[in-house]
Amino acid sequence: MKQSVKMIVGNWKMNGLAADLAQAEAVRVSLAEAPTGNRVGLCFPATLIAQAAGRLKGSPVEVGGQDCHAAASGAYTGSVSAEMLKEAGASLVIAGHSERRAGFGETDADVAAKVKAALRAGLEPIVCVGETLEQRDAGRALEVVTLQVAGSLPESLSGRAFAVAYEPVWAIGTGRTPTVEQVAEMHAAIRQAQVERLGAARAPILYGGSVNPKNAAELLGVDGVDGVLVGGASLKADDFLAIVRAG
Ligand code: PGA
Repeated sequence: MKQSVKMIVGNWKMNGLAADLAQAEAVRVSLAEAPTGNRVGLCFPATLIAQAAGRLKGSPVEVGGQDCHAAASGAYTGSVSAEMLKEAGASLVIAGHSERRAGFGETDADVAAKVKAALRAGLEPIVCVGETLEQRDAGRALEVVTLQVAGSLPESLSGRAFAVAYEPVWAIGTGRTPTVEQVAEMHAAIRQAQVERLGAARAPILYGGSVNPKNAAELLGVDGVDGVLVGGASLKADDFLAIVRAG
């Protein structure tokens, strides 16, 4: 018997043209043939969401976006709103990924506004937090991430479905992962910060950063890890399925 349902979410980042949806299709087919008790999602570039949603309809694979604007509509050239993602067929959206915090200057307040937008549109947000290597080396990892949780989770999340993803910046795309002890310690701290912020909320806390078919079972087995957010290894169906089945 499975101990608990894990949440396994892929993040394609800025990768994927229509032909690559064959990978998502292969995930769908495999899960139809051999279902897993885990929740499975794939976060596509905005351009692929409508097509992906059409092809994954009726399957257990949930479709997500990777970011949204805080406003529902307006003069924001190049941006996509949560309502637009929802209409295209998404049910999930990532908010506050470190690549957006670092590359686009998103603050905790910006992330909280995006999370509110996701709730307004009926999307389930996956809120990302995580320290840089410099912050970890300075002994500030717990403090930094706890502050990010407090600042990025709006009070309106109370009682709503959402997830938090702990993604140490230095583990993303590097092949490096924290130790099992470091992950367990951080997930406990995030859980505590979340309870302090929202009361008795018990949202899943995912780990992200260089998750692959080889390390997935160990990371998913860490105390307090309710799932994983997978970047590079979610692009190929075989790798992603191996991770989905590792939990
Ligand atoms: P990675 O990315 O699995 O390629 O390290 C994870 C993420 O950024 O969500």
